[in-house]
Amino acid sequence: MNRDAPGEVTVQGRRLMVRHRFFSLKNMVLLVADQTGKEMVYKCFVKGRPSLVREKANLLRFAPESPALFGESEDALLLEYIEGENLLDVYVRLEEEGLAGTEVLDNLVGSLGRLYRKSPGYRLGDMNLRNFILEKDNGRIRFVDYEETSVGKREEDAGRLMAFLLTYRPVDTVWKRTFVSHLTERLVLSGLDGTLIRHYAEDELTAISHRRRMEKIMLPEGFPDSIC
Ligand SMILES: Nc1ncnc2c1ncn2[C@@H]1O[C@H](COP(=O)(O)OP(=O)(O)O)[C@@H](O)[C@H]1O
Ligand SMILES: [Mg+2]
Repeated sequence: MNRDAPGEVTVQGRRLMVRHRFFSLKNMVLLVADQTGKEMVYKCFVKGRPSLVREKANLLRFAPESPALFGESEDALLLEYIEGENLLDVYVRLEEEGLAGTEVLDNLVGSLGRLYRKSPGYRLGDMNLRNFILEKDNGRIRFVDYEETSVGKREEDAGRLMAFLLTYRPVDTVWKRTFVSHLTERLVLSGLDGTLIRHYAEDELTAISHRRRMEKIMLPEGFPDSIC
């Protein structure tokens, strides 16, 4: 187990052994197991109850695409554990191996489509690739972090996602630009507005350049007009 996590936690009278602490800048997120060995995720909200209430409402809104809710305490939710690899690790590995990642692209577009059909008018919010898990058993991609989910446009999610995809390190490689173009092409084919994706991607790239004090990364040439 990494970093200072408790040895066990209690939810609604159930004692749960802590097996692992996931990487998180905001909250305490733990892999826990009950007496039978069943693994679940314990997400403790550092900012308190309003964040928990918001995430719970959104989890239910996107069920069954979202992780199932197994219980809650004053400041934590007990969730279905989606076993697999987070999409950031998958993305880094694809680039290292020089693979196109066609299957991952198709799975991601399929998962986003299923999620948006569940809750029209909502956007997922935090499009960090760590919030997506490539499920071990079936190769499906699941979104796990609904704390920032809100009413909004799908194109805002897509634009932010493109900005993140281009700026993971090493930033703005030819491989990343190709991946981003292919993903945008698929999303536009699935019905999203390419011009709006561009607008939100530009916004996020500007924000990232300020946050990291670096020169602003430009979108792939002609994006998205070359593909609309
Ligand atoms: N239901 C889940 N199944 C598998 N892994 C999860 C699940 N929920 C969270 N995680 C892992 O824990 C990390 C942090 O959880 P997350 O819900 O994103 O909280 P935050 O980003 O607010 O700290 C995620 O990036 C993911 O790797
Ligand atoms: Mg997260």
